Amino acid sequence: MINFLAKIFIKDYRDIDRASVQSKYISLSGLVGLGLNIFLFIIKFIVGKLTGSIALTSDAFNNLSDSLTSLVAVIGSIAARKPADQEHPQGHGRIEYLASLIVGVLIMFMGLSLFFDGVREVRNPTATDFSLAFIGVLIVSNLVKFYMYKYNKDLSIRLDSPLNDGVAKDSLSDTIATTGILITGIISYFTGYRLDGITGILISALVFKTGLDFTLETSSTLLGRKVSDDLEEKIVKEIEKGKHIKGYHDLYIHDYGRGNIIAHAHVEVPGNISVFEMSQVIDQVESSVNIKYGVLLVLHMDPRFELTNFDEDAETLVVDLTSEDDIDPYIQKAADLINKGELVVVPTETVYGLAGDGLNPMAVEKIFKAKERSNKNPLILHIASKEEVNKLAIDVPDLAYKLMDEFWPGPLTLVLNKSPLVPYQVTAGTETVGLRMPDNDIISQVIRASGKPLACPSANKSGRPSPTNIVDVYEDMKGRVGLILGDGSTKLGLESTIVDLTGKPSVLRLGYYDLDTLRKLIPGLEYNENESEVYSKAQKISHYKTKADIIVYSDSLPNLKKKMSEDIKSYKDQGMKVGILTSYEDSQGLDADYIFSYGSKYDKEEIARILFSKLRDFDRLDVDKILVQGVDEKGIGRTIMSRLEKASEGRIIN
Ligand code: TXA
Ligand code: MG
Repeated sequence: MINFLAKIFIKDYRDIDRASVQSKYISLSGLVGLGLNIFLFIIKFIVGKLTGSIALTSDAFNNLSDSLTSLVAVIGSIAARKPADQEHPQGHGRIEYLASLIVGVLIMFMGLSLFFDGVREVRNPTATDFSLAFIGVLIVSNLVKFYMYKYNKDLSIRLDSPLNDGVAKDSLSDTIATTGILITGIISYFTGYRLDGITGILISALVFKTGLDFTLETSSTLLGRKVSDDLEEKIVKEIEKGKHIKGYHDLYIHDYGRGNIIAHAHVEVPGNISVFEMSQVIDQVESSVNIKYGVLLVLHMDPRFELTNFDEDAETLVVDLTSEDDIDPYIQKAADLINKGELVVVPTETVYGLAGDGLNPMAVEKIFKAKERSNKNPLILHIASKEEVNKLAIDVPDLAYKLMDEFWPGPLTLVLNKSPLVPYQVTAGTETVGLRMPDNDIISQVIRASGKPLACPSANKSGRPSPTNIVDVYEDMKGRVGLILGDGSTKLGLESTIVDLTGKPSVLRLGYYDLDTLRKLIPGLEYNENESEVYSKAQKISHYKTKADIIVYSDSLPNLKKKMSEDIKSYKDQGMKVGILTSYEDSQGLDADYIFSYGSKYDKEEIARILFSKLRDFDRLDVDKILVQGVDEKGIGRTIMSRLEKASEGRIIN
């Protein structure tokens, strides 16, 4: 019947997701309920009077109060449609919830009055007038109430309407109550027992409980309960459908009543597409949510840098500055790129670095992408004057200034407490920052020309040996940066030593400066990479890896040459191609497929300088095993061995 009436009276009856249509459905169902309850009142009242049944007459008044409930529902849903005014800028939609609350309270009152009727009946039982008309009216009443239960339940689900849900609950308890009256009537007719009173009390408890539950539920809606999961899901689906939208967070939905729901959320969008295009997409998502669900959605955009694929054929300009007379234009070009948020490869005295504006989170994200590096591994900021430390770090200990005076510019990185200026993208979300003033004229000039500290990790793809010449840089960074500034082979070849000064000073990474050198200023300094949680976590990722497995032969191994010879033979017998990297002194007589020397084993500075480039050379030769002669651990020898240990993943033969 409701659907039939809806077709006649509601213009857009099919458009049930629209708030205005929904509230018309609610008014209509209320009107139907009103009619049915008045009908029940009239027949029960007449039959009650004619048969002289007090039970039926009071049940008639029960229905009259139900029609009051329906009336409240109708008035509520109509009033809720009242447009917003100055005092109520969010409209009057919550009247529907207020009306529901009144319905809940009315049902509770019904329960109470039935309870007192029951008590009176127990104290002073009256004879039940059990006529045919009496039974007939009860049966008709039950059918009507059951029908009301069905359609209100149905609407409460389709419209997400607490009001209809309340009416449905009320109708169901009426059905149960009437059935109770009928059953006790039959029992007492045949047995003579007078059970009406007890039944009445049981029923009254049921009715009261229904009303109480309903009241509590609507009050919780009024207090600002979260909207239905269903609506939330629908909104999320629309958001996610939006072109370019990568994700959302912080979705809040405020319910001011039907048709006046306000929602807002943040959406993640690519940072490198036109704002005009993105704002159009957002407008379209907002308006489709509004039209479909009557929800006023406001989206805020959070640009994310998304470089999924580099175009390996994109132009990368490589300039060897050692053969240029005037390097200024290239320095300027590098600085311009940095200031545009682009990346540039620059030389340092240790290894080549992949540089970007260290204060621009987008540029920093680009570095992680280009290096394919985990953003849990922080970057070192490179500066050109000691004064910059005071801008980028706070609570700088005196020791830091002493170290800077002694070792800067140079291969020493200091981990200090970050200042608010440093973006968390640089520090992997932590409160500490690594700072270093490199000893290379080209990077220093780029820093000065751009006016920015440079976030600058080694210019290799994550996990590979650091590049120490432009051929190695180009191999990893082609198509990923606009410009590579070449300065020949880097002076030192191994990365800086990292000292953490945020607690008890400790060395996190061994580097060009050995422990003894640093102990002159920091007595008792130890190498303890686990001292820093960030650093030790970052080290779980593989480092300095070549395509072929590396095996290191410790310098302390007796018969080192004999052992290497045996292994070379055994690998070759298995059909493998073997490359070896040994000292000049020990290279004679070893029968590998490729034999490289790192120079004299007594010149460890030279070994440090060429180690990474030799390891990378093997990758171009398709070898299956790389056998490396280790060095003694004195001075920089310990750093060399620490790199080899990582590169070989611990395969060191002692
Ligand atoms: O010599 C060098 O230091 C070279 C050149 C280019 O300057 N740079 C370099 O950067 O080696 P990279 O990103 O490849 O290695 C820096 C190491 C990482 O292992 C990182 O975990 C650690 O420094 N690091 C950076 N900031 C840190 C911090 N705040 N706390 C602890 N460790 C940090
Ligand atoms: Mg590195």
